[in-house]
Amino acid sequence: MAFVRVCALGDLEEDTPKLVEVDSTPVSVVRTGGEVFAINDICSHANVSLSEGEVEDCQIECWLHGSSFDLRTGKPSGLPATRPVPVYPVQIQGDDVLVSVTQES
Ligand code: FES
Repeated sequence: MAFVRVCALGDLEEDTPKLVEVDSTPVSVVRTGGEVFAINDICSHANVSLSEGEVEDCQIECWLHGSSFDLRTGKPSGLPATRPVPVYPVQIQGDDVLVSVTQES
């Protein structure tokens, strides 16, 4: 599992998603509640960037139709999305945030 540095921890504002690219995969990195999560940036319902949505209660909301996805599991909490979005493991090393997209969880 190859971890890639995506940004500095200090670059992440609480509950403000940051869009990064890891091995050509668009990933939304979210710092919330003292933890950092990485979720694929594309909504499973349509081709919409999740990093443009809002974060609340460890979920990221798709701005187009309102499905929210759990940042820990990628599962949608409600319609219209029915399929989960891939989530990725995150490592914090000092002030560096690293993400691996080689093994989806
Ligand atoms: S495009 Fe995301 S819920 Fe429809």
